[in-house]
Amino acid sequence: MIQSPRGTRDFLPNDMERRRFYEGILRQTAQRSGFREIQTPIFEEAELFILRSGPNILNELYAFKDKGDRDLALRPEMTAPAIRSFVNNMSNDPKPIKIFYFGQCFRYERPQSGRYREFFQFGAEIIGTATPQTDAEVIATALEMIKALGLKEYKARIGHIGILRKELMSAGITAEKMPEVLQKLDKKLYEEAWPLMKAAGVSRSGAYAIFELTGTVGGANVLDKVPGEESEYLRQILSYILAMGIDAPEIDLGVVRGLDYYTGMVFEIEAPVLGAEKQICGGGSYTLSELFGGEKVFSTGFAVGFDRVLLALEKEGAKYPISRMDAYVIAASEDTTKKAFEIVGMLRRNGVSADIDLADRKMAKAMKYASSVGSKFVVIVGNEDLAKDSVTVRDMSSGEQKSVKITDLPAEIRGH
Ligand code: HAM
Repeated sequence: MIQSPRGTRDFLPNDMERRRFYEGILRQTAQRSGFREIQTPIFEEAELFILRSGPNILNELYAFKDKGDRDLALRPEMTAPAIRSFVNNMSNDPKPIKIFYFGQCFRYERPQSGRYREFFQFGAEIIGTATPQTDAEVIATALEMIKALGLKEYKARIGHIGILRKELMSAGITAEKMPEVLQKLDKKLYEEAWPLMKAAGVSRSGAYAIFELTGTVGGANVLDKVPGEESEYLRQILSYILAMGIDAPEIDLGVVRGLDYYTGMVFEIEAPVLGAEKQICGGGSYTLSELFGGEKVFSTGFAVGFDRVLLALEKEGAKYPISRMDAYVIAASEDTTKKAFEIVGMLRRNGVSADIDLADRKMAKAMKYASSVGSKFVVIVGNEDLAKDSVTVRDMSSGEQKSVKITDLPAEIRGH
């Protein structure tokens, strides 16, 4: 039997109903904050991701050649595509440009709970402004989304990659070596970071100071330890978030992020209920446009890991409304089949969701099927009722039955 490829999943009708429900909440939240949706291709020129995504992403890239010998890749994330599209199509639009996107991404990772090779991101970007207000707006939108989904337990942490980059640079790490060192620090792999730093001439005490910096966590007051413009910038971001009535994230100067394009504020949101793969959202400010042939433009954005956030909601026991079909129409005998089709057509035209027996089933079996698909009502089309222009309507939750005029049927069913 052929199975779906490792790290991918099939989403069945119940899954899709749940996914669409939560996707709708995210879309509404984004739109409420002035973001507008875009969609970009699922595959792009591989170079788009090779230029500045960093070693993590490169190792995981689904890259291939097409029949025309072009180097392409399935998108591992959607920020680079969004900025490419901005450079191609939107660079003259009034700034800032606020966009959002939803779709699948592909990373060749080792699959486990909450980590897939095909997964979905819901992300947003503000392009063209570099202010603490922009960063605050992005973080606030991400937090509003998580809250709107109904997740109870989550924690947001915000840092500034500029602080760490500056320290690493002055300790002797070159721009070339920076991504590799940052990648180790992102994963808190200090033992693996140390040899790289040592080779670059960083002293033991210098390295220790940097490791300690990545452990700087707490309220806004911890920023006193690292005075400078970056800290002041973070303070301003926090003040705007608070002004919007949103709980401020914790300061964590160890937030490094797995992608290499960030230049300023960086943040992550995690759901502790998920255990190992608990990061449900990540983002920050960056510049990419100049790499793709555009002018240098500052942007800030984030992406929610849709699959992970859904997993967290499930673990918290979150309920979502299950939609049920209104009516299931059954012909009581073969000679009323056509009339039953007439009625199902009429119901659908009148905005009632309705289905009909397609298998010439006997009444008991058709009833059983109607109940298994969760129909609210069954409409039985029999000759006796038809003689009075009526049908029998059975309420599937109470079991009550009554005769209803066909002309009154849509109103009768919709009335519930
Ligand atoms: P990222 O942190 O690499 O950032 O991914 C965002 C989110 O996608 C993660 O927090 C995680 O929840 C989810 N995610 C990542 N990999 C997987 C996987 N293999 N399976 C399931 N979920 C996963 C970005 O991609 C940036 N583009 C975010 C951004 C937007 N920065 C600025 N703008």
